Amino acid sequence: MQTVVSGIRPTGNLHLGNYFGAVKNFLRMQEEYNCYFFIADYHSLTTHPTPENLHNSVRQILAEYLACGLDPEKSTIYIQSDVPAIAELSLLMSMNAYLGELERTTSFKDKARQQPNNVNAGLLTYPVLMASDIIIHQADKVPVGKDQEQNLEMTRKFATRFNHMYNQDYFKIPQPFNYGEALIKIPGLDGSGKMGKSEGNGIFLVDEPKPLQKKVMRAVTDSGPTEPNSPMTEPIQNLFTLMDVVSTPDTIEYFKDKYATCEIRYGDLKKQLAEDIIKFTTPIRERINDIKANEAYLSKVVKMGREKAQASAEKTVKEVREIIGIKRF
Ligand code: TYM
Repeated sequence: MQTVVSGIRPTGNLHLGNYFGAVKNFLRMQEEYNCYFFIADYHSLTTHPTPENLHNSVRQILAEYLACGLDPEKSTIYIQSDVPAIAELSLLMSMNAYLGELERTTSFKDKARQQPNNVNAGLLTYPVLMASDIIIHQADKVPVGKDQEQNLEMTRKFATRFNHMYNQDYFKIPQPFNYGEALIKIPGLDGSGKMGKSEGNGIFLVDEPKPLQKKVMRAVTDSGPTEPNSPMTEPIQNLFTLMDVVSTPDTIEYFKDKYATCEIRYGDLKKQLAEDIIKFTTPIRERINDIKANEAYLSKVVKMGREKAQASAEKTVKEVREIIGIKRF
């Protein structure tokens, strides 16, 4: 059976981008693969969360994973820092990751721009830690959104380089994965770019219906089509991209026809979109609140995952140490 690994940083609540870019695939993959899904708390330290915020965010993502339908009996669900072997592998892998390639990574350049007073070494070596997360379980497939494509490219590069360096076929070379084929990017409601936790444009699974509806009704639009079948501007395409993931084909067709014949009223489109998003998020939101209140269950899940993830990770690190020449006397 093939192995799947993916993770999410605990930097806030899950939004629709996280759900449709990543979690939706996790749910289907856990039925078919040997899955490891984790909470990337080491990775979130690059932005210096307070200790309290970090802990609350980890609990939140854990509850959200479970509320979305991740099943600890089917998948190994764990917290990255519960598996110190990942940190060791990251150290070992960093010895053949080069400064130039790390500095050229788009996510490093973006972050360095976003937080100029905190360009820490963790930001630079982020792709090495991420590669270690993945190859430590010998993953075949990694379900992620489009924004992670370059990090996956780096993972493949580091794993291949290790194999060449030690003349071994040791690490599997993992593939980014989405059931819908191409990796996806869910847009925000601000007219351009992707939905993100830090972009201030997110629709969160925990959003209550009223504020959620307000967010959607405030989405950027344009002044409307003036000629039949005119091409859509980016803000309008974005609304349809969101509809694609939450609305029925009939609804989408109805509004596309209205657009094509210039009869569309963006207010109606947004109202329908908000309604469909609320229909989708409501049962998940309710489950999140229930699960978060069940401390004993959360502890049990974390313990189960920790043991399985540690066993798999420690096996790899033991083998890597031997390949490198770190041998017991
Ligand atoms: P993170 O925490 O930023 O996002 C988690 C997952 O959500 C996807 N995603 C999106 N997909 C589509 N549209 C969007 N607007 C959108 N926003 C976020 C991301 O692509 C990701 O799949 N570096 C990773 C965490 C990580 C990881 C790993 C992932 C650490 N180690 C190993 C996979 C394997 C990150 O920051 O994701």
